[in-house]
Amino acid sequence: MTTTIATEVWAPATVQPIDDVRHPAARRVADVLRSRSARPRVFVLDDLENIEQAVTSGIVLHSLYVTGAARDRVLPVLAGVGPDVPHYVLGEAVARALFGEQKSARVFALAHAPRPSKLHDLIGVAGDVAVLDGVRIVGNIGAITRTVCALGAAGVVLLDSGLRTTLDRRLIRASRGLVFATPVILAGRAECVDFIRREGLTVAALSADAAQPLRAIRAVHERLALVFGGEREGIGPELNEVTTYRYAIPMNSMVDSLNVSVTAGIALYEHAFREQKTPESRGFRGSV
Ligand SMILES: C[S@@+](CC[C@H](N)C(=O)[O-])C[C@H]1O[C@@H](n2cnc3c(N)ncnc32)[C@H](O)[C@@H]1O
Repeated sequence: MTTTIATEVWAPATVQPIDDVRHPAARRVADVLRSRSARPRVFVLDDLENIEQAVTSGIVLHSLYVTGAARDRVLPVLAGVGPDVPHYVLGEAVARALFGEQKSARVFALAHAPRPSKLHDLIGVAGDVAVLDGVRIVGNIGAITRTVCALGAAGVVLLDSGLRTTLDRRLIRASRGLVFATPVILAGRAECVDFIRREGLTVAALSADAAQPLRAIRAVHERLALVFGGEREGIGPELNEVTTYRYAIPMNSMVDSLNVSVTAGIALYEHAFREQKTPESRGFRGSV
């Protein structure tokens, strides 16, 4: 079947139909989707919103792909997002074959991998750091990344997250493409403890059974590394020796614990807007 491209609504620079999985561009997509590399050179960005967000954050696109009925509507938009990169229209069967068991995307891009963020990228950056100790549900990591971005925190450190790379498709989707807008760092526990010591960062751990209520954090004026534990085990012992404060968010006794991304949202907000530091004073949207 030949793919028809709506050239009357949009004059394409380079739009190519792909109706065969042996097409070189289709092979390239298959290779990138199959890659298990911790340092991929090219990665997949799903969905228009995430592609736009990534480009805003400086990600350089390699190529753009669209499948199915939405293509006539989407192609002109893609032309605006990546005018200088090749565009491809995938046949439905090719798209099905490429994604196989993986979640398929009607609109996606291949993009050049940025340099992975490292702990030293947090030096001299204002705002608290969210340290996720053993948080493994990618949806939670993505939600916390959005919150960190939204509240102007410095970044996210992932310890024992199970992720090989922060360019993971699921994380990009869960963070709505904001994983490129803030440092998200994969680190080892020992490396993180060393960094905290070296930089003299003050650590506050969030734990449902801590003795102090979270509101006490309002009296802490220095920048904090806020530590949140994993969905199963909570916070591991390694960070104990560098932890100064421990706070609990008071809960109704019928509840054992909050979801970690909810906890992170409450704690980051509570510390970011302590005292006179109102959302208005930082020029945030949604201020009253
Ligand atoms: C789902 S909970 C983990 C439950 C785990 N069984 C435990 O013993 O900690 C995930 C993380 O969210 C944070 N958390 C959950 N509820 C909290 C609360 N009420 N106060 C402070 N932190 C809380 C903690 O950092 C916790 O490690």
